[in-house]
Amino acid sequence: MDKVLILAGGYSNEREISLITAKSVINELKKNKKYKLLLIEPDGNFVKKLRKFKPNLVLNLLHGRYGEDGYIQSILESEKVKYTHSGVLSSSLAIDKEISKKIFIKNNILTPPYIKFSFKNNFKIQNVIKKIGQNFGFPVVLKPINEGSSVGVYICNKRNFKSNLLKLEKFKDILIEKYIPGREIQAAILSQKKLGIIELKPKRKFYDYKAKYSSSAETEHIIPVNLSPKNFNKINTIAMKAHRLLKCRGVSRSDFRYYNNKFYLLELNTQPGMTSLSLVPEIAKFKKICFMELIEEIMKDASIDK
Ligand SMILES: Nc1ncnc2c1ncn2[C@@H]1O[C@H](COP(=O)(O)OP(=O)(O)O)[C@@H](O)[C@H]1O
Ligand SMILES: [Mg+2]
Repeated sequence: MDKVLILAGGYSNEREISLITAKSVINELKKNKKYKLLLIEPDGNFVKKLRKFKPNLVLNLLHGRYGEDGYIQSILESEKVKYTHSGVLSSSLAIDKEISKKIFIKNNILTPPYIKFSFKNNFKIQNVIKKIGQNFGFPVVLKPINEGSSVGVYICNKRNFKSNLLKLEKFKDILIEKYIPGREIQAAILSQKKLGIIELKPKRKFYDYKAKYSSSAETEHIIPVNLSPKNFNKINTIAMKAHRLLKCRGVSRSDFRYYNNKFYLLELNTQPGMTSLSLVPEIAKFKKICFMELIEEIMKDASIDK
């Protein structure tokens, strides 16, 4: 019998989402009697609980800070316990939207142009607005460097720029990106293979927290995506390239904007959600990979020293 330690919850803004993911994964794994499951929310006693349970592997279902940024991964490395998804370095590169963008740019992957902004006591809003004008102009997207689930993401024009910017003061460092209109498409990689893509059509202003997780927001999920075979291949190939560049493992999901026949990579997620509204399970299902197979494929890849 395989002892599987499931990590979920945690300390990030996406705690609730992680717990919902864990619930759906546990319900599925319970159907297969060969697993002995234990769910843990990592806290100060995490290592103690880990050593007591002695799992064969850790199924990491955490999101965001401490769970998706290399922190928990480094604890699991030092405990020499096999764990799923990406390792320490990949996780810490991918969660940092600025570092990963630099890697993408260096490797000819198109990503929206951006400037980094850091709050200082006496910053002059006129100077920031001027810099935006010189670089790409309005509208822009504001986002914290290492959050997820659209937490702290604001689309704004010149008029409401200052008020939105000030909402992000607690984050210190943020990215100001050129707003890319067009379509929202995401691509998944599983076990170093292209899994497929899905398009999202939010009824809300953009694919924000509600549009992602609330069924009442009625975001349309479109699969198969209406793209030419050439473009279908192109977006999958970019996702694969990004996955390889960051040396990701298990599963990853890359978020794109598609505009004027170009794909702009926004970010790569190393711990994509697995709730009932989540995209990776839906992309897998379209490829005739059921939820159980998807989870087992991810678990099969569990390892250390990655
Ligand atoms: N440059 C951009 N242009 C247009 N829309 C954007 C841009 N950046 C982000 N968005 C919107 O905000 C959402 C969340 O942004 P993303 O960079 O994926 O961060 P996260 O999902 O980690 O919060 C995207 O799915 C998209 O709908
Ligand atoms: Mg995203």
